Amino acid sequence: MSNNFIKFRDIASHDIQSVLDRATEMKAGMVSNALVGKSVAILFEKPSLRTKLSFWIGTQKLAGSPVYFGPEEVGLGTREPVADVANVMSRLSDIIVIRTFLQSTIEEFAANASVPVINALTDHEHPCQALADVLTITEELGTVAGGKVAFIGDGNNVALSLGYAVAGLGGQLKIASPDGYKLSSDSVDGANAYGEHAGGSVDQVSNPLEAVANADIVYTDVWTSMGQETESAERLAAFEGYQVNPRILDEASPNVKFMHDLPAHPGEEISDGLLYDPRSIVFDQAENRLWAQAALMEKLV
Ligand code: NVA
Repeated sequence: MSNNFIKFRDIASHDIQSVLDRATEMKAGMVSNALVGKSVAILFEKPSLRTKLSFWIGTQKLAGSPVYFGPEEVGLGTREPVADVANVMSRLSDIIVIRTFLQSTIEEFAANASVPVINALTDHEHPCQALADVLTITEELGTVAGGKVAFIGDGNNVALSLGYAVAGLGGQLKIASPDGYKLSSDSVDGANAYGEHAGGSVDQVSNPLEAVANADIVYTDVWTSMGQETESAERLAAFEGYQVNPRILDEASPNVKFMHDLPAHPGEEISDGLLYDPRSIVFDQAENRLWAQAALMEKLV
C-alpha cells in the first residue's frame, strides 16, 4: 500500500478488505492507540460536516490530536506555495488530511510531504467516502463481490472513487448519467483495470432504468458539486429525469438499499423524504466514514 491515500487506487485492491475488516472491528469497540503522541493536521479549502467531524473524532478515538484549518486560513498556493506548506506541515504533524479543488494540488502537496497525505475530497476523487461506502455495502450484502450497484447522476468525484472501490472488491457498478456529465473513458478504463483481478466492473449508460434493473444498491450524489455553483441552472436542466425517488427504487431489486454521500438536495437528485425511506441507509453510511477512516489512518501510520 502506498503511504498516501490521494486516489482510491493508492490502496492495492487486495488490501481493501483488510482495511474494511479492521474498520468493522473498530466499530465493534476494538480501537487502538495507533495515534498516541501523534497529531493529524486537517486542512480544508471547501465546507465539510461529515469529513471534518469523522477525521477529528477518528483521530481522538486512536488517542491522537487533531488540528483543523478551515477555508481561508492557509491559502494553499496563494498565500504560500503548496510545496512550502507541505514541508512545514510534515515537520509538525504525523498525518495530513486535505480537502481542496484540483487533484494536481494534492499530488504536488504529497510529492513534497514526508508524512502520509489523505485526500478528503478533490474535484476528481473522494476516496475516503468510497471506503466508507464499500464498508456500508459489505454490512448490507455480506460482501461487495457480485453485488450490483447503480449510481444515478453526475459522473463526478464520488462516482469515480466508488467505481474503483466497488470494482476492486469484485462488484458491478453501473453509472447512469446524461451525455456531457459522464466519467471520461480513461477513468472508467482505469477502474476496470483495477477491478479486473477481482471480477469487478464499471460501465456507463444513459438511461437510469437500465442502471437500476436488479440493483442491490442505488446511489446518488448532488448534481452541482462544491465549486460548480455557477453551473447550477444548467445542471438542473441537464439532470432532469435523473432523480432518485421511490418509483426508481421500485424498479431495482426487491431488497434494494438507497445510498447518498450527503449533503442531499431534496427536490433535485432525490425526492422529498427519500433519506428517511425505509430503504435508505444513508446515516449508516455517514457513520461509517469514522470507522473506515480510523482504520485507514491506523494502517498509514
Ligand atoms: N460531489 C460532491 C460531494 C460532496 C461530499 C462535491 O464534490 O461537492
